[in-house]
Amino acid sequence: MRIKTANPETIKEAASLLNAGKLVALPTETVYGLGANALDGEAVARIFEAKGRPAFNPLISHFYTAEQVREQADMDERARLVAHHFWPGPLTLILPRKKSSTISELVTAGLETLAVRVPAHKTAQALLKSAGIPIAAPSANVSGTLSPTTPAHVAASLGDKVDLILAAGPCAVGLESTVLDLSGPAPLILRPGAITAEDIEHVLGVAVPYATCEVGQAPKSPGMVLKHYAPETKIRLNAIDLEPGEALLAFGSDKFMGIKGGGAAKDLPGSMRRNLSENADLHKAAANLFAMLKELDRPGEHKAIAVMAIPDTGLGVAINDRLRRAAE
Ligand code: TXA
Ligand code: MG
Repeated sequence: MRIKTANPETIKEAASLLNAGKLVALPTETVYGLGANALDGEAVARIFEAKGRPAFNPLISHFYTAEQVREQADMDERARLVAHHFWPGPLTLILPRKKSSTISELVTAGLETLAVRVPAHKTAQALLKSAGIPIAAPSANVSGTLSPTTPAHVAASLGDKVDLILAAGPCAVGLESTVLDLSGPAPLILRPGAITAEDIEHVLGVAVPYATCEVGQAPKSPGMVLKHYAPETKIRLNAIDLEPGEALLAFGSDKFMGIKGGGAAKDLPGSMRRNLSENADLHKAAANLFAMLKELDRPGEHKAIAVMAIPDTGLGVAINDRLRRAAE
């Protein structure tokens, strides 16, 4: 692992690493983030691997400008207002994902919404500008530990799992960004932060509650309020052969997979067959997971989606977690 003080040269180096699919820890005004190219599913998969997250939670995409956000997400009048007042700054907006969005489906964990933020930290801005891509970044720590506010915290938590740590001293805010959900008819704070409900109420002129029953109470965990992508088509796990009428989500070779009553999986029409990774690469599988589930999720067309077994190691743990939820 390398720690380098942020300057024009190291920022350029970090930008090239990101564009090459590598992980870079970057300072923001809230906490240090573990960044990857948000357009590159395999790079994003490495974030989950490095953090040791046993599940795929959606990540925040960081942008250089609000104009770039608008290319990926729908911004209504409310979003324009709060963006105008609080960006760049420690506010994350949950917005409807544009159909044409090029953000990896792994960043949004298959959801129809996108978490977006324009950070105020000069180094983060310089990196976003130089890289020319949105950066997906959760806090730069191992899952279940405190969010890092200094380069030393990042190094202690992630060590060699990150390719470069861009160092720019301690973070000014020291607390994760406020997460404001504007994807529904009424605004809702999913995570409290430096920008408060009152701050947002001043701008929007309507009540902005926290996402619990008790007004003013923070949600006990993000999982409580977070929806998971759930396909409408039935999912069957650990398939070793296919029932007639089932679509196949393969992992590794499906050459020898048969259909009960006759036929081979490899002769199925293309619309009924996807492969997460033909050479059984878990990064590729993670990057493809949500996009391929969605492609096969055409209710009424297939009886079910049969999914081949995926090893329960490394990123496979998070992939299997999502598949089990989808199968429920
Ligand atoms: O200050 C911050 O926000 C830091 C810096 C690096 O920007 N990032 C951060 O990321 O805290 P993370 O991954 O630790 O937290 C992201 C939060 C999670 O609570 C996640 O559930 C929520 O945002 N989130 C992301 N996408 C969402 C979505 N589409 N709908 C609802 N919640 C979402
Ligand atoms: Mg975190």
